[in-house]
This record gives sequence, C-alpha cells and structure tokens, in this order.
Amino acid sequence: AYVVADPCIKCKYTDCVEVCPVNCFYEGENFLVIHPDECIDCGACEPVCPTKAIFPESELPAQWKEYQALNADLSGKWPNIAEKKAPLPEAEDFKEKQGKRAQLSL
Ligand code: SF4
Ligand code: F3S
Repeated sequence: AYVVADPCIKCKYTDCVEVCPVNCFYEGENFLVIHPDECIDCGACEPVCPTKAIFPESELPAQWKEYQALNADLSGKWPNIAEKKAPLPEAEDFKEKQGKRAQLSL
C-alpha cells in the first residue's frame, strides 16, 4: 500500500483524493491517511501531491517509518474523504517544512 507521510501535516491539499480510484483516503484535522487494505497500489496519488507526502510502503524514507502504522491505525478511526476540498489556510507556509509529527492532530 501507499503511505501518507509527514509533509502532508498542516497542508492537506487533497489532490490525492481526487485521483484515487478506490476512495481509500481518510481525513483528520490536519492530515490525511490511506487505508492499507483498500489501496490497490495504482500509484496515481503519488505524483499529484504538492508536498510529495505520498510513498509506496517500500520506498518510505527511514525517518518516516512510523507513518506506516499511523496510516493503518488512523484510517480505521477517521472518516472517509472522497472529494477534493480547499487546502488548510496555513498550507503554503507549511508546504516545505518537515518534522511536523508533533503538530499532527490526533
Ligand atoms: Fe489510491 Fe492508488 Fe494512491 Fe492507493 S496508490 S491511495 S489506490 S491513488
Ligand atoms: Fe496531503 Fe498531499 Fe494529499 S498534502 S492531502 S497527501 S495531496
């Protein structure tokens, strides 16, 4: 499955949602996750994310390994999101920032 990592936090552009053929994105306050059992590994979401937050599980950078479990866990708790919406107001400011894990709203 594909995994949403750190760069999405406080941005949530949702371009990924628009292209996913199986609607497997789930939405938190300032982050999106992918349900690992629903993702069909099509790869459509990876290139459209403006923050480059999405990776195939096998290519997830080592410092973001924890996001694999976070996607699995949070996708079972958060509501599905099937349509693109406006990014968060602070998205442009946080787009280039990394190490946002402490700011993830659970
Ligand atoms: Fe959806 Fe495809 Fe991305 Fe999986 S890889 S989340 S199926 S767009
Ligand atoms: Fe997040 Fe990128 Fe989607 S910022 S909401 S993973 S397009």
